[in-house]
Amino acid sequence: MPDSPIPRGSSTAPLRPRAEEVRSRLLGSALRSPHDFIREVSVEADWRFWVESQTASRPESIDLSVVWEGPGGPLVAFASMLPWDSEFFGIRTARLDALVHLDSPGYAIRQDLVPAIRDITDHVAKFGVEYFFAVVDARDAAVCRSLAECGFGLIESRLTHFRHLGDFAPPERASVKIATEQDVATLQAAAVRMSNSYDRFHADPRLPLDLVDRLMSRWVTASVLEGFADATVIPAEGPADAFCTVKYHRDRWAPMGIRISQTVFGAVSTERRGWYRKLISEIHCMFRDAGVECAYLVTQPSNRAVIRTWERLGFQFGRNELVFRKWLGQDTRR
Ligand SMILES: CC(C)(COP(=O)(O)OP(=O)(O)OC[C@H]1O[C@@H](n2cnc3c(N)ncnc32)[C@H](O)[C@@H]1OP(=O)(O)O)[C@@H](O)C(=O)NCCC(=O)NCCS
Repeated sequence: MPDSPIPRGSSTAPLRPRAEEVRSRLLGSALRSPHDFIREVSVEADWRFWVESQTASRPESIDLSVVWEGPGGPLVAFASMLPWDSEFFGIRTARLDALVHLDSPGYAIRQDLVPAIRDITDHVAKFGVEYFFAVVDARDAAVCRSLAECGFGLIESRLTHFRHLGDFAPPERASVKIATEQDVATLQAAAVRMSNSYDRFHADPRLPLDLVDRLMSRWVTASVLEGFADATVIPAEGPADAFCTVKYHRDRWAPMGIRISQTVFGAVSTERRGWYRKLISEIHCMFRDAGVECAYLVTQPSNRAVIRTWERLGFQFGRNELVFRKWLGQDTRR
């Protein structure tokens, strides 16, 4: 599609000086709630929590959020540098968290956001960003379409399933434990060997696979040793070649008005086939016993084994998100 010129009169300015005003305008308008697939979640509370965390003060070196004024605006783009990812890959990486109309921040369908996305991408490129990605709720159709029209490629599709735990009863019991430092080497090997080809890292031909493998290994290490996860659950007996990491998200319980937790990252070696269901069952017993009311997990629609397991355990579809990314730096592949 030919590039349409950036409309005259559009401007992109850092959010920071207007953070207070933006916060009160967003909180005073229509709502959207990232967790509204759970009916019991208070949409107001979830929206407030989201807006407050997006507009909270953060170091200038990572804050890329801007207010865009132009036809169809004003819009706010919440975006930030990701220092951890940037350092790991040696690629300056930033994430667009949302593009929201200041006065009507509900999901847009027919709006043309191309001029805004072009300006915002130019803005982040000035900060040296080489890899710019966005995780977008599928209901935000205008953002999805406009990102694609601006050259962002679809790199991953994500499904979230959820379950209330009040009536959760495991089909069978298995003996599990929490991984410790001595399990790390085995966990690293399992995370690398049993990779998920459809996540945005494995699926991106411009990311070297050996580095992506190292990322999986690094994540599981950080989950056990550096608090990336609240716990890494493994079989109680034998090698730690099957695992799932969990996050309780206790900081969200009070503001969201519901005790909600998540299983984050997992892999099961072929020698342990069938253990995914056991780990997921035990984790949800653990959650239930800790007072968690509702749990959710995320995968790709391609991961049939995972979805089959969740459905057997009574989880149901909650949300679809799409991940888009654009390389802004030079392509150095040979
Ligand atoms: C996905 C993974 C965790 C599953 O581990 P597992 O416990 O050995 O899973 P299984 O092979 O027993 O499959 C689980 C269920 O899905 C079913 N299944 C497997 N492949 C399937 C397919 N292609 N289509 C439909 N169902 C499938 C199995 O029959 C089984 O169902 P059952 O319990 O009713 O018999 C493991 O393959 C893995 O580590 N993959 C790579 C990493 C990954 O994808 N992690 C999850 C990220 S969310």
